[in-house]
Order: sequence, then C-alpha cells, then structure tokens
Amino acid sequence: MGLLAPIFAISLAVVVVSGSHQSYPGTSSRPILSDSEANTLSESNYFQGWSPSAINVPSKGDYVVGSGQTYTDIQAAVNAAIKAGGSTRKYIQIMPGTYAQTVYIKGSVPLTIYGSGSSPTDVKIELTQGADLSTSSYVNQVNPSGSRYKDGDPAYSTYSDCASQSSGTIGTTCSSIFWIMSDNVEVYNLQVRNKYASSSQGQSVALKTDADKITISNVYLISYQDTLYLGSGKQGVVQRVYVDNTHIQGDVDFVFGGGTGVFNKVAFTAVSDRHPSGAVIFAPSTHPTNSYGFFVINSVITGDSGFLSSKKVSLARAWDAGVSTGGYVAGTSPNGQLEIRSTRIDGVINADAPYTTATSNRAYSGNAGTSRNLNDNNYNRFWEYNNSGDGA
Ligand SMILES: *[C@@H]1O[C@H](CO)[C@@H](O)[C@H](O)[C@H]1NC(C)=O
Repeated sequence: MGLLAPIFAISLAVVVVSGSHQSYPGTSSRPILSDSEANTLSESNYFQGWSPSAINVPSKGDYVVGSGQTYTDIQAAVNAAIKAGGSTRKYIQIMPGTYAQTVYIKGSVPLTIYGSGSSPTDVKIELTQGADLSTSSYVNQVNPSGSRYKDGDPAYSTYSDCASQSSGTIGTTCSSIFWIMSDNVEVYNLQVRNKYASSSQGQSVALKTDADKITISNVYLISYQDTLYLGSGKQGVVQRVYVDNTHIQGDVDFVFGGGTGVFNKVAFTAVSDRHPSGAVIFAPSTHPTNSYGFFVINSVITGDSGFLSSKKVSLARAWDAGVSTGGYVAGTSPNGQLEIRSTRIDGVINADAPYTTATSNRAYSGNAGTSRNLNDNNYNRFWEYNNSGDGA
C-alpha cells in the first residue's frame, strides 16, 4: 500500500508530458527545451551582439516616391540615395499607392524605406514573378525600355545577372520582388506581394535579404511558396534580420534560407487555396557550424479554415540546400536551426509530428536525449519552448 502514492504520481507526470507536448525533453518527434537549454538559445544569443533599434520615421522623407512626387519609381529613389553616398541614414518615403516593380537595394548607405499610409497595405509593391518566368518576360516586366536598371546603377549587375540566366528562366532568387543586399536597411509600414499562383512550379519570393542588420517592421509579406528568403548560410557570414509586428503568408517553405532571423510578434499564416495537400512554414538551411538560424517569439502560427480542419501544416523541414537525395553528411551539409518560443500555435498542425522530411529526403529526427548537444548535426535542430494554443 505504501507504494501506491508514488506510482500514482509517476503516471500523472506521464499524462502531463504527452498531453501538453511542451514539457522537457519532449519526444524525438517534437523536442522541447529545458529552462537551462532555453537560456543558451535566447533572443540575445541569436542577435550575437546586435541590438536593433526601433524604427523612427520622419514625417517627410529625404526622398519621396509617389504620383506627382519627385520620384514615381521606388528604385529611382533608392538609386539616388545610394549614389548620394555617406554613412548617414537616408529616409525614402513612399506615398500610398500600388507600385508594380522590383526594388533592389545594393550599396553601403544605411536606408530606411517606409510607407506613409495609415496601414501597411496602403503601399503595395507587387508583381507576378514566379521562378519559371522566362528571362525575356522578366526583362519586359522589370526593366521596360531599359528605364529602371541602367549600366552604372547600383543594382545593375543584379538585374543583368537575372536577365541572363543560362536556363532561360529566372529561378527562385531572381523571383524576389524586394531584394536587400545592403547592410543596415530598415523596411517599415508597407506590403510586398508576389502574385504568382501556379499550382505546378511554385517558387515566388516576395522579399529576400542577403545582408546583415536588416530590420523589417510593420510589414505584410504575401506569396505562396518561398515568401521570405533570408540569407545564404555561408560559413562565417553573419546575416542577421529582425522582423517584428509583421504578417507573413504562404504555403510551401514560406520562411526559408541560411541567415539568422529573429521574429517577434509575427503572424505566420498558412493558406490552403493553392496547395491544400500540405504547407511547411519554416525551411532553414543554417550552416552546420552556425548555432543560430530562426528564432520565433511572442508570435502566432495559424492557418486558414482549410488547414484548421485538415491539420496539414508542418512547422518546419530542413532545407538541405545543395544536397542531393540521400546525400546528407552531418557537419558538412546545411542543417536548419529553429526555435519556436512563447508563441501561440493554432490547431493547423499535427501536434504529435509537427516536422517533416528534409528536402534531401532525410527523415526528420529530433533529439530527445536528456544530455543532448543542441548542435549535434546527426539530428535535426528544431526546438520549442513555452508555446501555447491548440497545436502546442
Ligand atoms: C511563456 O509565454 C508566455 C506568453 O504565452 C509569456 O507571458 C511568459 O513570460 C513565457 N514564459 C517564459 C518562461 O518564457
């Protein structure tokens, strides 16, 4: 009889673990950090010494874009600001309206590009530009009559590389509508949308970053596959992006890349209309020696009604970039790193198995050991801590 109480206590503890899916160490399908592990993977660890400052925009920018303004084309204002040079931050204000164009930012001048409407959707930057677009259609769409990108302009080489892809189609990277290649860029209060919606080849990037210390705040990013592409993930290259108060929408791999991203108060919404058979939110391709891929905090992970009933959203899969089927090598191949923390996860996912097979066909393998190394590349590096909601 004396043993009854302890046995009861043990079975209760087991019930709590399997019911919540948020108790350390979790399972090999869904690992959960301990408090001390979470201390080594906090927001400041991901920032690696950077403290992004809040974006403050002036009521009148140094360069104003809009109908009847000095600039009617965002790229022209960006080019002028970069050509003016210097290390003082320059402000590019975009008046409400729809801008059917690409924006490529390449140079060394710190820039803040902001919409001056009362909501992010008042300034829409959008094109229909899938990875399978022919280079000739790209030239007509992005640089009609050579008007937007000219030899000698800051981002001319980017444009001309995209226009001369040997495959004859532009590919995923050049599908980007808003492409940041300069450090210290801030983007505030606007919407970037890639309107491509084919059911076959789906890659269509809305916004891409290939630089360090980028802040994206109060922005709507909308596409289907590959909406937000962060960084390259090369060894020793630190590319930090801070995203806050932002809405990101898509279906397949819609937040992906090898850079470091900190997402605070972000709504990630999976939409089921194009590809109802399944969505994947995060597809990091973090270098195996980089401990900091994507960090999500104080956010909401949700989906439309189709996914709320089917639960066919995966939180993540590893993008084993450059790795052929079956070719993953631990410590050499990229191994996406992700932490989802203090976030509401709605019932759009399978809570028992929220992660899926990597792009190289490597089966998902979470590390649920109690003396685990969080950077053991023989396992996936996807972690959760302190999440809530029906999917948590
Ligand atoms: C857990 O998340 C909630 C928000 O859902 C937050 O208020 C709380 O501070 C978090 N606790 C820890 C230990 O991070």
